[in-house]
Amino acid sequence: MRICVVGAGYVGLATGVMFGKLGHDVVCTDIDEARVKAVSSGKLPFHEPPLEKELSRLVKKGALRATADQLRAIRDSKFVFICVQTPSMPSGRIDVGPVKVASRTVAKVLARSEEFKVVVMKSTVVPSTTDSIVQPILEKGSRKKVGTDFGLCMNPEFLQEGSALKDSMEPSRIVIGSNDDRSGDLLEALYRPIKAPKIRTDLRSAEMIKYAANVFLATKISYANEIANMCVRFGIDSEPVLRAAGLDPRIGSLFLKPGLGFGGSCLPKDVKALKDRARAEKYDSKLLASLLAINDRQPLEGIRLLEGKIGELAGKRIAVLGLAFKGGVDDIRETRALPLVIELLARRARVVAFDPMAMESFIRLMPSIEYADSAQDALRDADGCIIQADWPEFRRLGKKEYSRMHRPVVVDGRRCLDPEHVRRSGATYLAIGYRLAPKKK
Ligand code: UGA
Repeated sequence: MRICVVGAGYVGLATGVMFGKLGHDVVCTDIDEARVKAVSSGKLPFHEPPLEKELSRLVKKGALRATADQLRAIRDSKFVFICVQTPSMPSGRIDVGPVKVASRTVAKVLARSEEFKVVVMKSTVVPSTTDSIVQPILEKGSRKKVGTDFGLCMNPEFLQEGSALKDSMEPSRIVIGSNDDRSGDLLEALYRPIKAPKIRTDLRSAEMIKYAANVFLATKISYANEIANMCVRFGIDSEPVLRAAGLDPRIGSLFLKPGLGFGGSCLPKDVKALKDRARAEKYDSKLLASLLAINDRQPLEGIRLLEGKIGELAGKRIAVLGLAFKGGVDDIRETRALPLVIELLARRARVVAFDPMAMESFIRLMPSIEYADSAQDALRDADGCIIQADWPEFRRLGKKEYSRMHRPVVVDGRRCLDPEHVRRSGATYLAIGYRLAPKKK
């Protein structure tokens, strides 16, 4: 099948590679020519090694190509996946500008096409966007009708950064929203080789399923953070508490790790967007407001731990390890490192930062702090260190590295280190929700 992907970002390229691997003929298109050039040579514009390897293989094989000629790419395809970004505006509302631009481009092609093409919305959009914004643009712009002349589906994406290829090839479910059977049937047939439950629904429900999922994940994280914050104040460690809670299958053990809060391009944005969408319907969501409030407060927990051990931070040298929104990625969107560093600077700490992959973009965001070439260098003479992202290499820091610190105090903001190992290496170990178990008599 001929497939066009509009928008060569995370979702677009994972979708393109997935369909390429399934044997389809894929063309990716983007208005960003530098991106098109990179993809054409088999390179990803972000760090996702397994996806890049597969992309480069498909490009070499001629099964996937990229072009800036959007009209032609759409014209030559049966399925058109809209995978453009929907960034947050200051109010929390999503900016549907890129979706509108892409829809207008698709409409131009539909106007001149005899083929029944299927347009698939994959960008995350709040309920009613596809039927009240995308559909009218497509119908008015092409003077054709959905269901009769072309298809329209909403097909949300559930991949996690860091495991994009695996999540695309082995999804937990595939949601196919359409307001007419013909469109949905065609998309379902395209997904047939992928073994996963297929949920057929209408356009708005498909949009809402994406938010319902991400809000629940954010809820689990904020719940874990609240429980952890309370546990330490009660003098107990949150790890066995959350582990035991998670063993109840109704709760589930994943996404219960306390830390400095959730970041990334999706969870914070989606919670804010849904809250804004509900407000437009005069519904004030208390849950969504609380999730965000808990998340905003969480970096302060890390700072509180540090201050509890080394006192006032003014003039002290603090190493922040991990600037990406999580370990294993180079993405700094909504990273908790930003509010963390801002709070440290507000307390007049001297901040030195390091990340294995995300330094360049963080420097652009915050050029005024000091940056180190390695975690070891960042620790030199530091009065304390905060682990903000769970990079595996931070687990290997030991005696040699911690002994370079002026005061070897480690705040594990992601509960990703082995407390025993840190202590054996001569450093004080502190973490969100962590209490050293009292010695048994
Ligand atoms: C998230 C969802 O997990 C995906 O299912 C979804 O498809 C995606 O958003 C999206 O909407 O596109 P991702 O943004 O890659 O994926 O990030 P996550 O792995 O969910 O992590 C988000 C944040 O939560 C990170 O800052 C991470 O450190 C934090 N987190 C995660 C915790 O603090 N505790 C946990 O137990 C898990």
